Amino acid sequence: MAATDELVAACMEAIGEPDPRGAVREVLSRVITDGTLTKSRAESTAGLHILYRSEDLTVLNVIWPPLMTLFPHDHRMWAVIGIYSGREDNAFFRRDGDSVIPSGGKELADGAVLLLGDDVIHSVHNPARSSYTGAIHVYGGDFVGTPRSQWDPTTLTEQPYDLELVRGEFDRAERAFRATD
Ligand SMILES: [Fe+2]
Repeated sequence: MAATDELVAACMEAIGEPDPRGAVREVLSRVITDGTLTKSRAESTAGLHILYRSEDLTVLNVIWPPLMTLFPHDHRMWAVIGIYSGREDNAFFRRDGDSVIPSGGKELADGAVLLLGDDVIHSVHNPARSSYTGAIHVYGGDFVGTPRSQWDPTTLTEQPYDLELVRGEFDRAERAFRATD
């Protein structure tokens, strides 16, 4: 069984526990440090790969191109992030009417696990100039089908979350990196 299949199976089991978020955190803490995902990182292209999606669980393998920044967005469900390769800087925001204002941040290094509450708004950045970051993002709901928000990176005005726009940001960052090769 592929490492990502084992990860999904473990997450499906974890969300049946009395403390699903804590159980998912334990799963990620184990999996991101045992080296089994490193191969999946090498075999994956930049982007947001959906490993599993249902009403109550979404598991993503996110490969961040160097220096990519994804605009602020919310999830409206709990999330657990685990970094298995590279770094992921998270900047947090809080609502201010239709806009958002900065509210701290957290730099995640290889092996870090972060729990996010369902009201979190964050933007994400790969600070590395020449290496990709591999991260597992697990959500306690349907990350793709749940209506939520993103904020324009320049004007910080609220817009409906648009997965295609997100995928476009990954493509743009990937092209920008390849242009520097
Ligand atoms: Fe996010």
